[in-house]
Amino acid sequence: MEIKLGPKSTAEAECDALLMIGFEGGPPPATPAPEAVKELYDSGEFSGKSLELSILHRPAGLKAKRLVLAGGGKKERFDASEMRKLAGAVVRSLKSKGVRNLALALDDPFRSDDFSAAAAEGAMLADLEPDRYKTDPKKNEKQIDSFSVLGASQSGLDRGRILAEAQNFTRQLANEPSNVLTPLKLAESARQMAAECGLDCEILEQDRMKQLGMGALLGVAQGSAEPPALIILRYRPQTPSSSKDHLGLVGKGVTFDTGGISIKPAEGMEKMRYDMAGGASVLGAMKAISQLKPSIPVTALIPAVENMPGSKAQRPGDIVTALSGKTVEVLNTDAEGRLILIDALTYAQRIGCTHLIDTATLTGSIVVALGAVNIGGFTNNQQFFDKFTGAAKTEGEKTWQMPMDEEYKESLKSAFADIHNIGGRPAGSVTAAWFLREAVGDTPWIHLDIAGTAWLDDAKPHMAKGASGVGVRTFVRLAESW
Ligand code: BES
Ligand code: MN
Ligand code: ZN
Repeated sequence: MEIKLGPKSTAEAECDALLMIGFEGGPPPATPAPEAVKELYDSGEFSGKSLELSILHRPAGLKAKRLVLAGGGKKERFDASEMRKLAGAVVRSLKSKGVRNLALALDDPFRSDDFSAAAAEGAMLADLEPDRYKTDPKKNEKQIDSFSVLGASQSGLDRGRILAEAQNFTRQLANEPSNVLTPLKLAESARQMAAECGLDCEILEQDRMKQLGMGALLGVAQGSAEPPALIILRYRPQTPSSSKDHLGLVGKGVTFDTGGISIKPAEGMEKMRYDMAGGASVLGAMKAISQLKPSIPVTALIPAVENMPGSKAQRPGDIVTALSGKTVEVLNTDAEGRLILIDALTYAQRIGCTHLIDTATLTGSIVVALGAVNIGGFTNNQQFFDKFTGAAKTEGEKTWQMPMDEEYKESLKSAFADIHNIGGRPAGSVTAAWFLREAVGDTPWIHLDIAGTAWLDDAKPHMAKGASGVGVRTFVRLAESW
């Protein structure tokens, strides 16, 4: 989909559909609009409630073939997040109707870069279909070719496009089946993206990890014929700021999670291909960061492994030595995410990251607690967390802070090693977070459990079924606002 600057006036827009936003209770759009728009309101046919659509054909006085009036809900609650969703919902509803090009006319006070960026972004996110493996030759016929915003600025549109491309990159990776996207394939995708974006890329292979002593990560990887990789991407600002801060983004990259010897039930196991969604979101964020160029250095680290059972697999009760030197008793091989993450977090500290964020499809427990609505957020540093939630709010990525009382970590005490890797069923997402926290010590750290939010089980009006790309735009916003 091409994102374009539209003409200044609605009358001049030549397109299949010209989109205007109408709010609940009116007034009708102030942009010169045909009388018929007012009639839609007056007749009660259109109320303006969120995502409502009315379509007029051959609107008088316009070059556009259709005028689409889209409900924005309450005007005072309409923000960039609502704009993103609305543009997405319109794209998804119109593309099945043969519309190929769409133009959006915004009224004051919504004619700003923020709103046009959000609209372009929402349109591109909505256009992505998880149909890469469908062989129907007609599948591309129902797509929007171009989306333009009237009277927008190029920089606003560019921003929206960059963010959408980054999120779609993440979503496509997470949608890939695990026979295609192995750990080394993920590393290859990262390397290619880094080369295109001018980012530095380093892949630590199995031998190097052995030399370093990443026993926790390697223990998970040993059951699979697919070798592991620790993917490291670096962004360095051209004009560094005086601050010494260095953001480390660590994303769980389990390309498939069978559970290992503590094997998962068959039902729903196919979903475990998105167990690398955290890693993919960190890669997407780096793609956007390389173009939007924040002033803080950012390093991404993705431990990539496949968690399989087999004669070489690690057993419940095995004791491994993590990169930090601490020993871990692996009571459940399905609690593998935290094992690979602690070695990546320790490595991030060693290479100079001063602030750490990890993002991971870590626990089923967070799905029980928060469902698909909120990311579960955990921290050892409230100030850092508040900064993060500020960025998350701006980007409309809901995050709910979970408790981290000391009492929760009791259940990680092992009789045989320094710690064991599960805390039992109660507060499973909190004990998982404590396991990570024990590895980061006092370094300001945030853990995001995205098991519930990284995948849409059903399509939304504004987005297809499958990977959501959650986290990407908040990471970018956070780096930009540092
Ligand atoms: N990848 C899973 C968590 C998960 C569950 C992600 C559902 C997405 C949807 C993780 O590796 C896992 O298996 N966690 C276990 C931990 C348990 C063994 C302590 C879980 O949550 O059941
Ligand atoms: Mn698991
Ligand atoms: Zn997992």
